[in-house]
Amino acid sequence: MRRAAHQVLDRPTVFEDPTAVRMAGGPGADFDERLRRSEQSPIAPFLRAFMAVRSRCAEDELARAMTRGVTQYVVLGAGLDTFCCRNPYPADKLRLFEVDHPATQMWKRERIDAAGLRPTGALTFVPVDFETQSLGAALEAAGYAACERALFSWLGVAPYLDAPTVKATLRFVAAAPAGSGVVFDYAVSPDGLNPVQRVVFDTLSSKVAAVGEPFRSFFDPQALAAELREIGFREIDDLDPDALNHRYFRGRADGLKVGGLARLLIAWV
Ligand SMILES: C[S@@+](CC[C@H](N)C(=O)[O-])C[C@H]1O[C@@H](n2cnc3c(N)ncnc32)[C@H](O)[C@@H]1O
Repeated sequence: MRRAAHQVLDRPTVFEDPTAVRMAGGPGADFDERLRRSEQSPIAPFLRAFMAVRSRCAEDELARAMTRGVTQYVVLGAGLDTFCCRNPYPADKLRLFEVDHPATQMWKRERIDAAGLRPTGALTFVPVDFETQSLGAALEAAGYAACERALFSWLGVAPYLDAPTVKATLRFVAAAPAGSGVVFDYAVSPDGLNPVQRVVFDTLSSKVAAVGEPFRSFFDPQALAAELREIGFREIDDLDPDALNHRYFRGRADGLKVGGLARLLIAWV
């Protein structure tokens, strides 16, 4: 819904996604009105900006990765990410794996059909519960080649998993061939937040807990970077709110930008 809202409410867009509106149940005047109403809260534009920019950033990294010999794109916890319906890369250049919880994935596939969307390129759906199943085994059974370079996109998922599960997934990516990478967002430890950020964090945190998906892992940026280096990542770009706003939102007339909790990390093996 927020990526769809970005297409409808924000100009210019930082993330061009012509299929987001259809995936979310639009288009139509009623749909636009519903989006406008649902984006009224003071923190909505910050969340919308972050959800748009993290997808933009992952797809920018994919474009770079394609020039570095990456042949596989693995979207972990894909949710209603629409890349599979916009994938511009031919099947002999890129294999796309969408990994998600079986229940979410089934729902997404129904939504794709209901919206009249059609996946493009070489796509394989891989149903996996990260907390109880082996990601590696499921991917390999689905045709993922462990000897080829891959980029992993892991957006809006790590905060909902416990820290050991997050680390196990990062170790799996780190074991991929040199030139492979991951783009993911994470939650910083609430202890280090300023009072305003703390209020926003508490609001968000109680909202997600109320729908049964509480935030479960938090990281300190320096400690996380050290751990990533230790497990085999060599190039680490941890984009804090200033970096994201400078890279993607500067000079806007509407003031759209990410808030103080946004954190997007790009790491290459
Ligand atoms: C907030 S959504 C993010 C979706 C998408 N990546 C995006 O950026 O819009 C969280 C996703 O994580 C997935 N997820 C949460 N816990 C999971 C688990 N234990 N195993 C597999 N997927 C999980 C959900 O199914 C959902 O697709």
